[in-house]
Amino acid sequence: DRALTVLGMESSCDDTAAAVLRHEPGTAPVILANVVMGQAALHAPFGGVVPELAARAHAEKMDLAVEQALAGAGLSLGDLDLVAVTAGPGLIGGVLAGVMCAKGIAMGAGLPLVGVNHLAGHALTPRLTDGAGFPYLMLLVSGGHCQFLLVEGPDRFTRLGGTIDDAPGEAFDKTAKLLGLEQPGGPAVEREAARGDAARFRFPRPLLDRPGCDMSFSGLKTALIRSRDQVMAGRGGLTRQDRADLCAGFQAAVADVLAEKSRRALAECTARGLRPTAFAVAGGVAANQALRLRLTEVAGDVPFLAPPLRLCTDNGAMIAWAGLERFRAGGTDGMDLAARPRWPL
Ligand code: KG4
Ligand code: ZN
Repeated sequence: DRALTVLGMESSCDDTAAAVLRHEPGTAPVILANVVMGQAALHAPFGGVVPELAARAHAEKMDLAVEQALAGAGLSLGDLDLVAVTAGPGLIGGVLAGVMCAKGIAMGAGLPLVGVNHLAGHALTPRLTDGAGFPYLMLLVSGGHCQFLLVEGPDRFTRLGGTIDDAPGEAFDKTAKLLGLEQPGGPAVEREAARGDAARFRFPRPLLDRPGCDMSFSGLKTALIRSRDQVMAGRGGLTRQDRADLCAGFQAAVADVLAEKSRRALAECTARGLRPTAFAVAGGVAANQALRLRLTEVAGDVPFLAPPLRLCTDNGAMIAWAGLERFRAGGTDGMDLAARPRWPL
């Protein structure tokens, strides 16, 4: 096992990302460069990611992201040992753009190629940032994902449960929209909630009455609309305090559900005879401080790991790392590597 320098590329949603990572066995991996080119401004007028626009932007920007990552690392293609790329799941046009670009680079530079599952990228991040040992429990919470994963090896993931409808980030974004706050909704709702009274509105905690780790967040939206409309009907509008109280009530409901289901997921690990080395979170919603606090409490004696935000959200470093883990375990792909819109772990 020798030191390896890996290029990681990510384009499955609305971030064009490339990173260079170096790892010498027995030492902590080093992120030499981590370039993320977001597309927020491109999609903003449409109120959501437009797949065709995203794909075109990825195809146009990926070369540049790679160039910047190499320049940032002070390296050239000849210094690389491996090219890792997200091969799914995600918006197929974007994934395809990344895979094609990665094939071109691997072929041109005579380097091995590894296709990475985007979710594995998120799920293995605690090993990149904190050297987490197997097994550990991961809660992935973003705008598109919400699931508990038991991670037992670089290629051994068990889904213990997840959302049956919306992801929490999506719920935060919708709440912000319904209350006239800016997007992305998460940070805006958290800011308002900090000034609000969580006890004024009592929102549902869906599926808590059912066993298991599945969750549901779409009903919260309906409840929020009802409460908002009741207040507006009485007063003809929302005051700043109404808005803050609605945000606080909503955030408390999300945190309660995630905390209780995390407790169950940890109990499920124990029931399987496993002692997790850590309870880790990833995804944009993991930025929420109120939520982090609750999850820390739930973790108890199990170390709670929350990677830095730039590595919690979509990035190339996590793909480089997951690719490296796969490569070290003997996995590589050929020029027939396919882009997959759906790819369960
Ligand atoms: O992981 P991410 O950057 O992208 C994907 O969805 O893949 O997550 C973005 C989501 C958005 O829905 C955003 O509103 C949410 O994460 N988010 C937050 C916070 N910061 C970002 N949600 C709650 N509280 C926050 N502080
Ligand atoms: Zn992601």
